[in-house]
Amino acid sequence: MKRVYLETYGCQMNEADSELMAGVLTRAGFDLVAGPEDADILLLNTCAVREHAEQRVLGRITDLARWKARRPDVLVGVTGCMAQHLRGRLLEHARGLDLVVGADAYRDLPGLLERAAREPVAVVRPDRDETYGDLEPRRGPGIRAWVPVQRGCDKFCTYCVVPFTRGRERSLPLADVLREIRRVVAAGYREVVLLGQTVNSWHHDGHDFADLLRAAGSVEGLLRVRFISPHPAHMTDRVIAVMAEGGPVCPQVHLPLQSAADGVLEGMERGYTLAQYHEVVVKLRAAVPDLALSTDVIVGFPGETEADFRRTVDYLRATRFDGAFLFKYSARPDTRAFGRPETVPEPEKNRRLAEVIGLQHAVSGATNDRWIGREVEALVEGPARRDPAQIYARTRQFKAIVFPNDGTPAGTLRNLRVTAATPVTLLGEPV
Ligand code: SAH
Ligand code: SF4
Ligand code: F3S
Repeated sequence: MKRVYLETYGCQMNEADSELMAGVLTRAGFDLVAGPEDADILLLNTCAVREHAEQRVLGRITDLARWKARRPDVLVGVTGCMAQHLRGRLLEHARGLDLVVGADAYRDLPGLLERAAREPVAVVRPDRDETYGDLEPRRGPGIRAWVPVQRGCDKFCTYCVVPFTRGRERSLPLADVLREIRRVVAAGYREVVLLGQTVNSWHHDGHDFADLLRAAGSVEGLLRVRFISPHPAHMTDRVIAVMAEGGPVCPQVHLPLQSAADGVLEGMERGYTLAQYHEVVVKLRAAVPDLALSTDVIVGFPGETEADFRRTVDYLRATRFDGAFLFKYSARPDTRAFGRPETVPEPEKNRRLAEVIGLQHAVSGATNDRWIGREVEALVEGPARRDPAQIYARTRQFKAIVFPNDGTPAGTLRNLRVTAATPVTLLGEPV
């Protein structure tokens, strides 16, 4: 009963948590296997951010329950944000489920699995001190390592379930983060991505995120540093100044906007106006040459009028983000917006979403076209999955770029000239 199959949904934080669990489990003598066929224990590390995400997992639990009917000794568990969000209800509703573990109880996973072999187990108690800063994750192959620097979120945007699923904001000590970065560099990773729900609100012992970013960038042997996701209200001049220094700190920022209408931002309690958001954009672009800027937008939030929506469309068109994740509002239980009447009917939400997707596709295409003819520094990730005759790499802006496979090993920096572009990929040739 020691072979575990772990399936991950949701954001990078969840991927990092799966690596943490993999570390905890392998140290306790469990083996990780690549598919459910070979496993004694099936774990789904889940996301609750939108209803659709939960629906997918519920469907998957039903599949696995069928599986379990044929192999009754298999244990099926749910971890992560849905576990915390649905708590004991998950055990009642999903028959065949043996284990429900919230994001603050991964340290005890081996013991909980032992218990679950005898009786259904649900551990969803939030722990505001747990940072896992002392635990070594077990990472997959690759050149990029996720390094969590903060857990939880204190922002309570009115639509968002994350503060309920992940609890209060906690920052890891600077020394823990730097130790982890040195460890991943020694293990051969070339790039780190500092993770937190509002990563730039990181602070510890008198240090702020600017200190952390600069310290991360000066770790010997590390080629690139990124971070996700910063909150606009914490994008201080100090952080922008560190980004402007360049070096390993990459010219790339994912800065969630959500809406360009002040009334909607207020209803979301995002803590900034459009003018304040835009001031950050202007400062970043002035300070950081060739910055790539991306964002998140929600359409159809309760109260969003056609005029509000048009403001968002106009802002996306004018600001020319390199990319955007575009979502339809999904009412989440526990959040403050949950009880608010939904004023935008589903077909209208779909129309708004389709419009911004179409617009952003064109804008992303145009921003990528502007790279044609230029020289870029690409960090090689390996042969392209779809076409091994090509090598897949990323520019400093985090843009995917492919070039003819000449055997360049993963982790190498190559200078490439951009010869063509699509809205999602650049094509290059070695200079
Ligand atoms: N902590 C990050 C993002 C967390 S969730 C941040 O604040 O930037 C990622 C994105 O999902 C959010 O930026 C938002 O655009 C979207 N999202 C969150 N809750 C949502 C909901 N209830 N409905 C639709 N989209 C949502
Ligand atoms: Fe959710 Fe807002 Fe926190 Fe992001 S900042 S995780 S959107 S509550
Ligand atoms: Fe991430 Fe989804 Fe949880 S976006 S924090 S896994 S709700």
